[in-house]
Amino acid sequence: MKDIVPSPPPIVRHDIAAIQALFQQHVVPSYGRFDLVLSHGSGSYLHDITGRRYLDLGGGIAVSSLGHAHPAITEALVEQSRKVIHTSNFYYHEPQGRLAQALVSLIGPGKCFFCNSGVEANEGLFKLARMFGHDEGRFEVLTTVNSFHGRTLAGIAATGQDKVKKGFDPMVPGFRQVPYNDLQAMRAALSPATVAIMVEGIQGEGGVTPATPDYLLGLRQLCDEKKLLLFMDSVQCGHFRTGRFQSFQRILEGVPGGETFLPDGISMAKSLGGGFPIGAFWVRAPYADLLAAGSHGSTYGGSPLACAVALKILDVIQRENLADNARQLGERLKTGLQRLAQKHPTIIQAVRGLGLMLGIELAPNLPNLPGDPAKTPATRFTNLLHAAGLLAIPAGPQILRFLPPLNLRPAEADEGLKILESVAAGVAC
Ligand SMILES: Cc1ncc(COP(=O)(O)O)c(C=O)c1O
Repeated sequence: MKDIVPSPPPIVRHDIAAIQALFQQHVVPSYGRFDLVLSHGSGSYLHDITGRRYLDLGGGIAVSSLGHAHPAITEALVEQSRKVIHTSNFYYHEPQGRLAQALVSLIGPGKCFFCNSGVEANEGLFKLARMFGHDEGRFEVLTTVNSFHGRTLAGIAATGQDKVKKGFDPMVPGFRQVPYNDLQAMRAALSPATVAIMVEGIQGEGGVTPATPDYLLGLRQLCDEKKLLLFMDSVQCGHFRTGRFQSFQRILEGVPGGETFLPDGISMAKSLGGGFPIGAFWVRAPYADLLAAGSHGSTYGGSPLACAVALKILDVIQRENLADNARQLGERLKTGLQRLAQKHPTIIQAVRGLGLMLGIELAPNLPNLPGDPAKTPATRFTNLLHAAGLLAIPAGPQILRFLPPLNLRPAEADEGLKILESVAAGVAC
């Protein structure tokens, strides 16, 4: 019998150009990609097809919570796939129930919904807000300038960056942006239609900017006063990255009133699945049954396989105390970055972030920065880091982000700092 699907042409090993040509011919060019062609990874390292090794301090944009090829993730994938991968949400299964229980116990009284990505988790919260405000005709969600909430139509309407909206008008109605960390601006922006506020605990794509404690506590008070839902987009900054499960728990540590702070909804994804796609939202108890049967769903959401992986990751994080590791290694990296900024103030003008979500802001004028002047300084600096064996993630034109695995080792943090130092020194001279 003839093959129904012709077998794909063999990949030519080490042929970077051939693989890039496959993308150019067959993949929608919606991403600006770096030139690297990666083949495999181990722990905090990735390898390209030529055999070069890179220290991965980008973590696939805060996704690879246990690094690459972690045996516990492989084990969870193999074991669960031997039992059942997918059932549909017409039926019950243990991994989804247990994962919801684990997330609720880490956050507070409420319930969870499972989906496949960060933007889908946000969409769920937007729908929850609309259901909450429906009978009063309230539907508007206020978000913040420089925020990022994903790439669906509602996601880009919610996002506070013009570049993601460009060309996709008209925007989905019901979203407006207000300056971040500005409580007065938020209060002034409320309208009779406002039903919810969504903020990131640490703005990621917008440049690694943490919310201030006063801002978070003030938002809670404002939402209580005006009967609004307070949502936190924890897709990037959550899952122990800051040393606590949620970034607001870390930001509010030791702050009077901080221990009892809870938003009404939290979106999660990225590190939750360590590379296996899974998203989720948690909703606080009073609103946990608003989305009744038939009102929301996702075919793949919370599959036995995805939930088994997420449960295994939580297990490893707890067993190996990776929250503390993120806190300690975050301090080590941040101190090293600050030292570097002091040594090269003409290259690095600021260091920001918490735990293993850190950013450096490049100085506005870097005359010795090589590369295509049409590309942003952050992209050109990242290219230099790649050439030196380090992966980092640009966040806007001037900022580089470090979002490494939660099990990063001290020697790896030091290695990253050493590479950064050599690259900064090269640009300085
Ligand atoms: C804060 C935040 N929210 C939402 C998203 C969208 O997540 P996803 O790409 O999984 O849809 C991202 C992705 O970078 C993010 O950083």
